[in-house]
Order: sequence, then structure tokens, then C-alpha cells
Amino acid sequence: MSQEVRGVIARTKGEPVSLETIIVPDPGPGEAVVAVQACGVCHTDLHYREGGINDDFPFLLGHEAAGTVESVGEGVTNVAPGDYVILNWRAVCGNCRACKRGQPQYCFDTHNASQKMTLADGTELSPALGIGAFCDKTLVHSGQCTTVDPAAPPSVAGLLGCGVMAGIGAAINTGGVTRGQSVAVFGCGGVGDAAIIGARLAGASKIIAVDIDDRKLEWAQGFGATHTCNSTTTDPVEFIRSVTDGNGADVCIEAIGRPEVYRQCFEARDLAGTVVLVGVPNPEMTVELPYIEVFGRGGALKSSWYGDCLPERDFPMLIDLYLQGRLDLGGFVTETIGLEDVEAAFHKMEAGEVLRSVVELA
Ligand code: APR
Ligand code: ZN
Ligand code: ZN
Repeated sequence: MSQEVRGVIARTKGEPVSLETIIVPDPGPGEAVVAVQACGVCHTDLHYREGGINDDFPFLLGHEAAGTVESVGEGVTNVAPGDYVILNWRAVCGNCRACKRGQPQYCFDTHNASQKMTLADGTELSPALGIGAFCDKTLVHSGQCTTVDPAAPPSVAGLLGCGVMAGIGAAINTGGVTRGQSVAVFGCGGVGDAAIIGARLAGASKIIAVDIDDRKLEWAQGFGATHTCNSTTTDPVEFIRSVTDGNGADVCIEAIGRPEVYRQCFEARDLAGTVVLVGVPNPEMTVELPYIEVFGRGGALKSSWYGDCLPERDFPMLIDLYLQGRLDLGGFVTETIGLEDVEAAFHKMEAGEVLRSVVELA
């Protein structure tokens, strides 16, 4: 029997989101229905609403969530009703060429639920990143559910489902930051601050935060930045060299998605260093680099999809660190809100007033 719940949808491009009745089918083979307890508001939700991802309106928004498994379909063995889970948007297939060569973080055929959630009139919904969690209950592929210690409250656990995992993973998984390294993080929103936390966890000795907003730089210090640079008044490349004995940082992380900042990362990096791009560019952007420098500087220019995370490996580990007081997930939650407040949260996000607004569901 399908169920009727409340959910936040984007009906057409650019229009304010609305709270509607959503029909959630019973889970079919390989699927699970999850009672959502909390879901963070991420830039990608806004990008969907603005038509920046694709045109498959209407979208059921929300994808950074934690909740409890309510029911599972035939053949599901990895989770059971009652399990406390974080939802992930890259449930790996195990069969594609990336998975087969032992690099499931690049899986090219990730799984989502096969059935559709709909509006009351039967209109099929496109769930954001295959999740759709600004909703009392959502239907996902069981591989999108990762069980974690229920001692971690949903409002913080859910953050690992997207932005915070992307940032931590950009530093630790993609950048391979190790103890004693210097790391520069460009853009200190939720993703950049998470990269700062990741660099600190990995033992980086210098963590340089770059932003255009002093308030963000102050927050970045709270998360572990050892140096800060406001790039509207100080050249970040010069600054980073000046605090790294003239060399540049071992790892430069771009957490914004802007070509001019990518170029700064490229130039602020030490020889044989690594640039990690975790900010998401738009399709019109291009980047120009001095080719001889691309060769001459050596090292690596890498992109980080979802922090190159493996949810089954990384989510439980990071939750454990949180429970031990070693990972300040609570510091990302600027406010908790209701389902009816998502539109207002988009405005706050655009104004740079929040790291994360988190929707809490009853
Ligand atoms: N130089 C330095 N910092 C900048 C610049 C710039 N030219 N432009 C913007 N910033 C800063 C903003 O002041 C802000 O603090 O970058 C930060 C971006 O943070 P958010 O807007 O909060 O974005 P966040 O959620 O952290 O996501 C960052 O990662 O996953 C992607 O889609 C996401 O592309 C986005 C990026
Ligand atoms: Zn695969
Ligand atoms: Zn997201």
C-alpha cells in the first residue's frame, strides 16, 4: 500500500518551492522506504530549482539526510526496518568497469530506486540526486542506505550525506593530505570548512583559508584554519607562498567552482603538489592555464566527486569520530527549520548567512 506524506517540490524553473502531498510506493525489489528525520539544505537543491541540473521537473528536493528504515523490498539484505541510516547518492553497482578495477568511488552506474514517487495526481517526481528527502518518507535503493551509530543526532549525521562528506573527502580521499603538509582551502562555505576539518584530522600542519568574506574566515578559524586570507584585499597566491617558506601549499582545494579561483589554486601550489576541485563549475565555464607550467610544476590536478567517498567505509568512521568529540559536525548547523522553511533557507544560503540550514522532520 502506497503512503501519502508531505514533501517539498520544485514545480517549474525558478519558481518558489512548495509543500505538497507526495505518494510513496511500497519498496520493490532492492528498494527501501526511509522515514526521514533530518535533511540539510544544499546548493544542489537550489541548482535543481533553477533548472541548472536538468529539465526533469517537477523535482522532489533534499538529499543530505538521515533517518530510519521503515520497510525494505524483496532481496534487501544490507539494511532492515528500524536501522538508523545516512542516505548517500552514489550507491555503487559493483559491476561497471570502475567497480571491477577496484575503484568503486568512481562507479559509473550508481543505483537509485526503480519505482517513482508521484504527486497526488500521478505526476512522476524526479528526486534530487536520486534521494528526495525534504519529505516525511522517501523511496531509495537499499544501497543508498548506510547504517551508522544512532547516538549521533539526525541533524548532524545527515550532513555527511553530501556537502560535509564532499569537503572532508576532498582533503583526505582525493587530496591524500597527510601529517605535516600545508593545505590551502579556497572558499569557506560548508564544503570548504569541511575540507579544513579533513585536513586537520589528517594532521596537516598549516591550513590556509581563503575567502572573500571575513565572517567566513572567522568561522574557518573555528574549524581549524591556522592562517586566513581575504582575497579581495590580499593576493592569495602571494600570501600562501609567504606562509610556506616561499614554496606554495602541498594541497590546494578549490571549494567554490570558479575558474579564476582554480587558477589561483594552480599557482599557489608547491612543485609536485596537488590541486583538488570539489566546487562544481557551470557548463559555460572554461579555464586557461600556462601549458608549460602544467608540465613544469608536476604533481596532480584532480577532481573530487562526492569527496571520492565510499559511504560504507567513511560514514560510520566519521560518525565515530563525531561521537568521540573529534569532528565538529554541530558547527555546520547554523539553524534547524521545518519543511515549510526551505524557500527562506535558499535565500539565506544565497546571502551567505548560513553554513547549513537543516530541516528537522517530526
Ligand atoms: N574567492 C574566494 N572565495 C569565494 C569566491 C572567490 N572568488 N567566491 C565565493 N567565495 C566564497 C564565498 O564567500 C563562500 O564562503 O566561497 C564560499 C562558498 O561557499 P557556499 O556558497 O556556502 O558553498 P558550499 O556549500 O560550501 O559549496 C561550495 O561545492 O559542492 C559544491 O555545489 C557546491 O559549488 C559549490 C561548492
Ligand atoms: Zn560500478
Ligand atoms: Zn548536496
